[in-house]
Amino acid sequence: MKERIEQLRQEFFEEVKNCLSLDELNNVKVKYLGKSGQFTALLKGLKDLSPEDKPVFGALLNKAKVEMETVLENAKAELQSKSISDKLANESIDITISKNEQRVGTLHPIQLMQNQIIEIFEGLGFSVKEGPEAETDYFNFQALNIPSDHPARDMQDTFFLGKEILLRTHTSPNQARVMSAEKPPLKIVCPGKVYRPDSDASHSPMFHQIEGLVVDKHLTLCDLKGTLETVAKKLFGGETKVRFRPSYFPFTEPSVEVDLTCSACGGKGCSLCKGTGWIEVLGAGMVHPFVLENCGIDSKEYNGYAFGFGLERFAMIKYGIPDIRLFFENDVNFLKQFDKTED
Ligand code: DAH
Repeated sequence: MKERIEQLRQEFFEEVKNCLSLDELNNVKVKYLGKSGQFTALLKGLKDLSPEDKPVFGALLNKAKVEMETVLENAKAELQSKSISDKLANESIDITISKNEQRVGTLHPIQLMQNQIIEIFEGLGFSVKEGPEAETDYFNFQALNIPSDHPARDMQDTFFLGKEILLRTHTSPNQARVMSAEKPPLKIVCPGKVYRPDSDASHSPMFHQIEGLVVDKHLTLCDLKGTLETVAKKLFGGETKVRFRPSYFPFTEPSVEVDLTCSACGGKGCSLCKGTGWIEVLGAGMVHPFVLENCGIDSKEYNGYAFGFGLERFAMIKYGIPDIRLFFENDVNFLKQFDKTED
């Protein structure tokens, strides 16, 4: 009996030493100390021994059992820590991998530009009015002194939705809508999407405009120039100058094209302004008396000035963006450059 105990003890120690995993260790435990394990069988045999042998072998078996359990516990702890360090060694952390961060959405650069410009106009006492994108032929053209047979219709290629309904080609119809609905004095800006079937690096079939309109008594081109210069200085810097050139729009008389000194070179001449020092930014003029009368305003008592410009063009100049399509491709790397909250 004594030899058998010693033999099992030794075999057990040997097998524990050779275990490479916790699973293997568990198998050894079951083999010797489990319900039908070899060592358990010896313990069960105790009851058949003579009363003199029982305490002797009982003590030997117990001592061996305690030893075996201690060895088992130690081996288990060792294998556990080995499995953690193996895991760490095999699963080394790749610090170049990008973390799975939740990005917060931001305002689109055109929206940011619009907010900035509207804020400036609001500071000058203008209020914001919006109108429909699907517009009537009447407000988009006729009320603005562009009858159906007028060649000026060619200035703005048009998406017609029906005979009398179209996608507005400019935000100017809002002038006519507001003048028809409200009494002067009026001082409004109208932001919104407009549509024309053009598409290249500087034209998009959908783009954004802001229309401005002031109706009051005794307004002059100087009031128009002063307003535009104030806005341009706030937007592009205090050195910016405004220049008027004669032009033609059916809804203004006289009409002007408005240039700003180039914000890239300060007026010296560069590639952005094609060496001229000036950049054309908008159309404007004194509201045509016919337009006032079409909208029920007495043109002998009141006059007005109006202007309209494209937001994309302003943003392209301000941020040096070469292609209008970049605004609408939804490339996050492009869009996030304008997100001030990320700084
Ligand atoms: N509606 C014109 C366009 O889209 C811009 C414009 C020119 C608006 C002169 C005006 C204006 O109010 O007076 O090209």
